[in-house]
Amino acid sequence: MTLQSSAEQCAAYIKKHTSTLVVSHIDADGLTSAAIMGKALGRAGIEYDTRFVKQLDQKSLTMIADSNPELVIFTDLGSGMLEAISSLKLNAVISDHHQPKGTHKYHLNPHLFGINGATEISGSGVTYFLASAMGNNEDLANLAIVGAVGDLQHVKNGQLVGTNRSILEEGVRKGVLRYEKDLLLFGKQTRPVFKLLQYSSDPYLPGITGCEDASIEFLKRIGIRQHGEKWRRWIDLEPPEKQQIVSALIQLCLNSGAHACNVQRLVGEVYTLLSEREGTEVRDASEYSTLLNATARYDHADIGLGVCMGDRGRSFEEACNLLNDHRKNLVDGLTLVKEKGLVKMENLQYFDSGNKIRETIVGIVAGMCSSFVNNKELPIIAFADTDGGVKVSSRGNYDLVRKGLNLGAAIGEAAKAVGGTGGGHDIAAGAFIPAGAKEEFLRVLNRVIGGQVRR
Ligand code: C5P
Ligand code: C5P
Ligand code: ZN
Repeated sequence: MTLQSSAEQCAAYIKKHTSTLVVSHIDADGLTSAAIMGKALGRAGIEYDTRFVKQLDQKSLTMIADSNPELVIFTDLGSGMLEAISSLKLNAVISDHHQPKGTHKYHLNPHLFGINGATEISGSGVTYFLASAMGNNEDLANLAIVGAVGDLQHVKNGQLVGTNRSILEEGVRKGVLRYEKDLLLFGKQTRPVFKLLQYSSDPYLPGITGCEDASIEFLKRIGIRQHGEKWRRWIDLEPPEKQQIVSALIQLCLNSGAHACNVQRLVGEVYTLLSEREGTEVRDASEYSTLLNATARYDHADIGLGVCMGDRGRSFEEACNLLNDHRKNLVDGLTLVKEKGLVKMENLQYFDSGNKIRETIVGIVAGMCSSFVNNKELPIIAFADTDGGVKVSSRGNYDLVRKGLNLGAAIGEAAKAVGGTGGGHDIAAGAFIPAGAKEEFLRVLNRVIGGQVRR
């Protein structure tokens, strides 16, 4: 069996039903997954509702089962809860890329076919396979790529690889996508160029990040001119000007030492959605995915879904408003971590944000702060208070994964040991644990990671 034939089996099963409930995850990959499934169901004439959850646990599963759906399609989640799904006797299809626990008859997951769900295909990519098996849905490749970029699957190799690459090429053939090498800094479509530098947190630009004057000074010094009063956006610059900025940034990073600034993160492949208007947040896959995170991670998944389904009116406008708050929260979160610092243990380092960082974005902050955390030998663990317990997020790096780190397995085991639940990927994972269990959780996690990583 292949991912494709497994998708065909699941698609045939879906088509036996007349109405479904799509349950998905509250991030960019979850939203794009739900949108791909929604479009495919709509085109196949199957009725559907959509619901978003922070994580799939026993409580949310029971609520889903209580609503007596004819069929549930789980997208971008579910693979960690296969036994529970089976025991509730739900008619279900699971279209996910997280590390599986247990088995299920209609379970579409890359790990079952030796494909890596952290780097080669995302939840939206898996769901794109399912949608393609349901009908002519290859135009949805652009949403699948936004989901993959939202899950940072292009980071390891500076470009999308594996199954993601095949989806990308299909999108190019369909005329919905383009890819090219370009500066990776955020905001190329929408922000004046000095803002790109000022707000660059990954990589952290020594002497420039966080400082408007220094950003403007840097550009002036290398001869980039304003147009009248206004700074142009990256997309408005001439190719030689872009080249000049890239060279100067690389020089800056090299001068400040490899640890302070990761040159490899400056330039890489970027993905453009050709059906979207130039200069908007949805034209570039990375900006698009951040726009989506700004909705779903703040209880507004409906707005993000509206954007994915094509609403460029009200949903888009509301999403752009939410984006401003999201960006501010990320900057505030990073500042907090920088000021507080991280606590080191033998095999991990952690910070506890208490109620200062929202549980739904603490994972993003944990990922971004690796750009200024000096110790790259230890994975970063983050805690945030939440209703009735503590949210845990963890982020590693590929050097550690090569040495054996598997955060999904480690976090899962440590969470279970203290009566919580967790899982995810080798490079990034999360959990929910009871209040007061933090110390014990850390002790177990430290031991498990110690057993995984060859020093
Ligand atoms: O829930 P889901 O699988 O969609 O999320 C994957 C997570 O893994 C994302 O939050 C993403 O930021 C994280 N990730 C990471 N670094 C990578 C790859 C993924 O932090 N290189
Ligand atoms: O929430 P966070 O971004 O830290 O999640 C990192 C990864 O761990 C995501 O892929 C997420 O879906 C997964 N996760 C999980 N179970 C949890 C929490 C997070 O599988 N309870
Ligand atoms: Zn995902």
